Amino acid sequence: MRRAIYPGTFDPFTYGHIDVLERALNIFDEITLVVAVNSQKKPLFTIEERVEMIQQSVASYSHVQVERFEGGLLIEHAKAMGVKAIIRGLRQVADFEYEFQIALMNRHLYPEITTVFLMPNEKYTYLTSSIIREVASLGGDVSDFVPPPVLKFLEHRFNHQTK
Ligand code: COA
Repeated sequence: MRRAIYPGTFDPFTYGHIDVLERALNIFDEITLVVAVNSQKKPLFTIEERVEMIQQSVASYSHVQVERFEGGLLIEHAKAMGVKAIIRGLRQVADFEYEFQIALMNRHLYPEITTVFLMPNEKYTYLTSSIIREVASLGGDVSDFVPPPVLKFLEHRFNHQTK
């Protein structure tokens, strides 16, 4: 059984993340989406809200789990779970330096776990959660980029229709 985790802040979860998840499911038997804390970010949605919107968004997928992870090193969590791989999406060159730093540090901390980078479809190359938050907050239509449950959370948060 090949198991991997796909960690991220997912604030919010987008079709770009789903694209990476689907690619990962072609390689691994089971993926756990780990909603984690990035100490550099102040999220719009609470960790509970992010877990909820992701659970609703991936409800139709088999072999996908969603869990939260706060206060600790992700690599220690991965080790405790017994997974051998960490999935990360790589969209463009700009992602590379940051991802390289995290992957190398994680490998230094625990060499048995490998970070696997997957490229989402080109149409998501310039998609980020920040841009979704900004456009949705100003009333723009983001329905091409986020699954319906996430759209509902955004509408509720910004109190207007985003479509
Ligand atoms: N499609 C669209 N957007 C994507 C994407 C894809 N396929 N893949 C990544 N992104 C975007 C995200 O939307 C996000 O955009 P934003 O910065 O505008 O919010 C950005 O790229 C990356 O965010 P995300 O993938 O959600 O995760 P992150 O980089 O915030 O996550 C953690 C980093 C949580 C994995 C990392 O901080 C961590 O491991 N934390 C735990 C503590 C720890 O162990 N720290 C030591 C690390 S060495």
